[in-house]
Amino acid sequence: MRLSDDFISEIKYQNDLSDIASNYIQLKRRGRNLVGLCPFHNEKTPSFNIYSENGSFYCFGCGTGGDVITFVMKIEHLDYMEAIKFLAQRAGIPLPEDDFDDSTSRMRTRIYEANREAARYYYANLYSVQGKNALKYLHDRALTDKTIRHFGLGYSLPSRFELVDYLKEKGFTNSELIAANLAVPTRSGNSVVDRFFDRVMFPIIDLRGNVIAFGGRVMSDIKPKYLNTSDTMVFSKSSNLFSLNNAKNNKDRSLILCEGYMDVIALNQAGFTQAVATLGTALTDEQALLMKRYCDEVIICYDADEAGQKATARAIEILRRAGIVVRVIVVPDGKDPDEFIRKNGDKGTAAFKNILNNSGNDIDYRLFKLSSKYDLKTTSGKLSYLSDAVKVLATVDNAMERDIYCSKLSDQVDVEKNSIKEQIEKELKKRYKSYKKTEFSNIQKSLSAREDRVNTQHSSYIRAAAAEENLIAFLVNNPDKCEFIANRILPADFVTDFNRKLFIYFTERINEGKEPMTAISADFSSEEISQVVRIITSYSTITATTEALEEYINKIKEEALKCSYKDKESVSNDDVDDFLKKMRENRR
Ligand code: UTP
Ligand code: MN
Repeated sequence: MRLSDDFISEIKYQNDLSDIASNYIQLKRRGRNLVGLCPFHNEKTPSFNIYSENGSFYCFGCGTGGDVITFVMKIEHLDYMEAIKFLAQRAGIPLPEDDFDDSTSRMRTRIYEANREAARYYYANLYSVQGKNALKYLHDRALTDKTIRHFGLGYSLPSRFELVDYLKEKGFTNSELIAANLAVPTRSGNSVVDRFFDRVMFPIIDLRGNVIAFGGRVMSDIKPKYLNTSDTMVFSKSSNLFSLNNAKNNKDRSLILCEGYMDVIALNQAGFTQAVATLGTALTDEQALLMKRYCDEVIICYDADEAGQKATARAIEILRRAGIVVRVIVVPDGKDPDEFIRKNGDKGTAAFKNILNNSGNDIDYRLFKLSSKYDLKTTSGKLSYLSDAVKVLATVDNAMERDIYCSKLSDQVDVEKNSIKEQIEKELKKRYKSYKKTEFSNIQKSLSAREDRVNTQHSSYIRAAAAEENLIAFLVNNPDKCEFIANRILPADFVTDFNRKLFIYFTERINEGKEPMTAISADFSSEEISQVVRIITSYSTITATTEALEEYINKIKEEALKCSYKDKESVSNDDVDDFLKKMRENRR
């Protein structure tokens, strides 16, 4: 279903891109634009730009661009119709009824509904006769009924048809249940059976309160211990966090990152509502960027075993890269936070608070880990430790913080502070160079990859493509010149197909009296949109004169002409005369 231009214009007008973006990132004014750290990739220097004059954004680091609709689609992981709905609701604009029966967004709505019904059903089971053991299991793990209700915990019955039958009764189809991953097809493929049975159920809830998935734990030693919803249309385990819906509102802008569902729940019950957990996989860059919206600091509290400590080292890297301050706590006696709090009984809250307050930051933690690797009583041990420690300190961006560690280290190994400092400076320079190099090569890579994918002819016809892009940018920024341009150049004169497509698209819209950019997020793919925005915004600041326009047109025609001879085996004298004649006509 196609939405009217008026409706989309209204949506865009009422939802200022910079307002919306500033809910997710910090923006600074630079000239006419706003700039900030890109929310779509990790970076230390801002290359994310918002062009207020035309309501578009573009990141020079990763090449992502678009309008406010594209922004919401990407940052909230929504499809086009859902982003429109999101923005309409935000601005209090009523939705045109019929346009929202788009099949993918309808399926997503059905999955949310099925998940919600399933969560209610599982919860009710827990308090039924058949759920007695499961409820006892949770009580034995020291969870109160209040906590169970707060997290909506539940129980899936030991049958393979209970939930399926219940939800079918409620009007859900097999394909909806399969899409939600609440059911799986039988081997014959003719019917479906429950995916979860005889497990304690943990609903996973997104930031808007939708149940998007479940984790289910066995109450015995059967493997796997936890079974989780596979990725579905509404759930990706690598881009969500358990209990972020509870944790996001904490005032301190600090989150505790744990390994498991039970850790988070036990911490919540003890008053630490800022706890979150990954969903059975290692922490991803995407999750770090998501956390960064709600915190400035993350306290990692993984299991004390070897796997947990390895995961800690990886998580430190990822969080730091996202610009988050990291602290690490290790719960004593090899326990996980859940066990620790339980073992401490009434004093659980105070005991955990104590660890929290005494937690070092990740540099302390890393130095401590390093120092235990070497024998610091020997000279060679000291030297090895020192050379590793210098590398760690070189990752500290703040000079004052570095200086403090330098002093500590100097005392610890009894080496002159200045010589340690010198080593750190050297390491810093090395790191800076390699950082710049990777950042640069990433930009290069993404630029060329983008051009290859969207305008595949760009690299073969660089000059023609550049002139075409200039002309398109001019056209979009000066729609009143459309007729003039159309009289001077035809789509057939364009050399590259993608730019020709853009030229036709924009001239048609302008001729129909429409604003050229309004519908781009409906009419182009997300890669194409990024390309369009790059083209429009890169040239909009150039003072567009009619002379410049003439030059673009001539250049395109000239290049087109050259191309038509390029493929010929040999060029005759007549060809040359013809070529020169056409060139002269062009110039006129
Ligand atoms: P753990 O094995 O540390 O379990 O897995 P836990 O959180 O301490 O659970 P309890 O206390 O025994 O109930 C940590 C997390 O890894 C994921 C789950 O998200 C779990 O919370 N996991 C673990 C799985 O997804 N599948 C598994 O089979 C095991
Ligand atoms: Mn545990």
